Amino acid sequence: LKYKVIYFTRTNTSKRIAGKIADRLSCEAIQITDNIDWKGIIGFIKAGYYSVTDKAVDIKVLGNLHPADEYVVVTPLWAGGIASATRAMLRTIPNDKVHLVVASGGGLLKNRSGYKSVSDITDRINEEFVIDNLARNLLNK
Ligand SMILES: Cc1cc2nc3c(=O)[nH]c(=O)nc-3n(C[C@H](O)[C@H](O)[C@H](O)COP(=O)(O)O)c2cc1C
Repeated sequence: LKYKVIYFTRTNTSKRIAGKIADRLSCEAIQITDNIDWKGIIGFIKAGYYSVTDKAVDIKVLGNLHPADEYVVVTPLWAGGIASATRAMLRTIPNDKVHLVVASGGGLLKNRSGYKSVSDITDRINEEFVIDNLARNLLNK
């Protein structure tokens, strides 16, 4: 199967994870950006607000999402939900082909239905374990 890894990041955790997964799968890691400055405490508060209210953002996809059989989408958890830019991107690809990887400070994504799989990365130790498991799973197909 041909995989593409896609990620959005605010503080580079999802970028690091996406890079490791892409290395394991020998595929590219495509970054999603948006038009918002999420930096600092103001950015943090804004991000929480955008997530909770499902406020729309304009995204840029820095690569080609096609062709791919399945996707690995790496995203930060924002207030129990998927970060706004990732959410916007997920509306453009079939979610039943998405292995979602959610980076958080320990919380779990609330709405987990509709994806091929959902993995939670909550700390550095769990990060290695989850990446290894996911990569083995995908490479065995
Ligand atoms: C607005 C906002 C809301 C967050 N909400 C949660 C949360 O509900 N639960 C949690 O465990 N972590 C939460 N976090 C922490 C991030 O999910 C975590 O730091 C993640 O690894 C950041 O990924 P990134 O470096 O790719 O941006 C939140 C972070 C931000 C900015």
